Order: sequence, then structure tokens, then C-alpha cells
Amino acid sequence: MSRPAPAGPERRYRCAGAREADAEKGEVRVLEGRTALVTGAAAGIGRASALALARAGADVAVTDVDEAGVAETARGIEEAGRKALPLVADAGSAEDARRSVEATVRQLGRLDVLYNNAGVALVGQDGFTPDVTPEVWDRVIRINLSGVFYLCHYAIPQMAKNGGGSIINAASSMASVPLGGMDAYAASKGGVAMLTKSLCAGAGRLGVRVNAIGPGYVDTPMNSVIWQSEPLKEGFARGHATGLQSAEEIAELVVFLASDASRSLTGALLTCDRGWTAFKQPELLSAPPSR
Ligand SMILES: NC(=O)c1ccc[n+]([C@@H]2O[C@H](COP(=O)([O-])OP(=O)(O)OC[C@H]3O[C@@H](n4cnc5c(N)ncnc54)[C@H](O)[C@@H]3O)[C@@H](O)[C@H]2O)c1
Repeated sequence: MSRPAPAGPERRYRCAGAREADAEKGEVRVLEGRTALVTGAAAGIGRASALALARAGADVAVTDVDEAGVAETARGIEEAGRKALPLVADAGSAEDARRSVEATVRQLGRLDVLYNNAGVALVGQDGFTPDVTPEVWDRVIRINLSGVFYLCHYAIPQMAKNGGGSIINAASSMASVPLGGMDAYAASKGGVAMLTKSLCAGAGRLGVRVNAIGPGYVDTPMNSVIWQSEPLKEGFARGHATGLQSAEEIAELVVFLASDASRSLTGALLTCDRGWTAFKQPELLSAPPSR
């Protein structure tokens, strides 16, 4: 098998003219000329990331099971002046993964960035293992972990055709420190972190970087239970060193990992949880604020 030219990603992505023009306007389009695919992009971190990737200059294919939501995200990408490709696809389906990658390459011309964002936290169904049904376990593992494998399986050969690319996988703070009582979710995210590490050597030989991110608690529909309860929200906010996180700040990290600025990173689980896993003072979660 012939290998692509070394150090491909840096060389391939230079679009000096466009960058200089944008830099004069105070904008640096670090992803000019690249194409991204984002799963679970109808809401939350996925939507914020798809829009941030577009603002950074990428054309973006967006997939989700929520057809109306993904169409809305696509409109936002077009408003940012980039091409959008909305696709209805189940991240937990190998066949949908194949279709999504093929459609992206066919309609947007190439694939440089894959953000495996889609995931589910089945609060009330996931929990302590004896209480979790095998059906719930299988669903969480299929979407959160097997889905990452399916997309990587089909995307890496396409990225290699252009000399490489960057894959970002949604792990969680629970990949390293589980909250307890979300056994399937924690196992799925631990699996994502380890797949990321295991995969990086082989992918690197094809010019593809693979990293995972581990946010803390982010203001998205996934955490609506927390956000709708002031005491819960305050407790979780105190559990982070600098408060709760926004989807937009995670999206900025996704752009960084997609860009050449992160070229030293591959096989990493980037802990980006505002200190949630760096310290734990459990009493902070229940005590009133000390003012
Ligand atoms: N929100 C957090 O605090 C947090 C923290 C750490 C990690 N994460 C991870 O980040 C990712 C995004 O989280 P979020 O908070 O934005 O979630 P969210 O629930 O707010 O949005 C998830 C999106 O994924 C879509 N989706 C669900 N199942 C799907 C499937 N089978 N196929 C395709 N799309 C599907 C939903 O329709 C939705 O648009 C998830 O993998 C999550 O586990 C979130």
C-alpha cells in the first residue's frame, strides 16, 4: 500500500490568499477549503460546533435523527456563507454511517473533519447495572460507542485519499471519572476514549489525527433536567471550578482540534470540563453557596 506524503495536513490546507483577506477583516478562516461532517447536529454541542466550523470556513454536512432540527442547522451554515448538506441518519447505524460519508464526499467533494458528536444519556433508564435493561445498555453502546466506530470505519479511507484529516470524538468527563449511576453512559464514553487512543497509530500513518473531548456539564437539551432546577444547577455549577459550560465554548475547542493549530494532538482525551474532574468536594454539591 502506498503511503501519502508526510506532513500532509499542514501543506494541504494552506489557502494563503483567502486567509490574508480575512485576517485584514479581523477574521481568520482556519478551515477554509475543508469539508466537515458533524453527527447529532440538530441541537446542543453538535449544532454549535457545525456553525462554528462553518464560520471558520468549512463546508459542513450535518446528520441527525431530527429532520427539522438538522435543516435549521443547515440554514445557519448557509447564512455563514458555507455549503451545507443536511442528512437524516441514525448515528447508531453502520449503513447510515456509510451513506453519510458517501453523500458528503459525493456532494461536498471531500472529507477532512469528522466530529462524532451524536450521543444519548438515558436519564431514568440508565443507572445501576442490575436496574439497566439489556435493551437500554445496547442502545446506549450502539449510539455512543459503536456509532463512533462506524463513522471512523467509513471516514478514514476517504480522508486518506486527500492525505489526511482530523477526527474529534465526543467522550465526556465520565470517560475518566464516572458520576455513578449512569453505568452504560460511562462505559460508552470510556470506550470512546480508548478507541480514540487505539486508533490514533494506524490513522496517523494515513495522515489522520484522532482526538476525544471530555466536557463537564454543558447547557444543552441533554441536561435540561439540571437547567430547569435552580438548586441542581447551582450544585453542578459549584462542582466546576469556573461554573457551567456553554455549547459555544465546546464548539471553539472542536474548531481548534479540527485545525492545524492542534497538529501536536492525536490520541488525546482533551479534558475540557472547567475543573469538574480536577477536584471534588462532594459537600459543595449539596451545601448552599457560602456568601
Ligand atoms: N451536555 C453535556 O454536558 C455533555 C457533557 C459531556 C459530553 N457530552 C456529549 O456531547 C455530545 C452532545 O451532547 P449534547 O449535550 O449536545 O446532546 P443533546 O441531547 O443536547 O443533543 C444531541 C443531538 O444528537 C441527536 N441524536 C440523538 N440520538 C441520535 C442518533 N441515534 N443518531 C443521530 N443523532 C442523534 C439528537 O437528536 C440531538 O440533536 C453527546 O455525545 C454527549 O454525550 C455532553
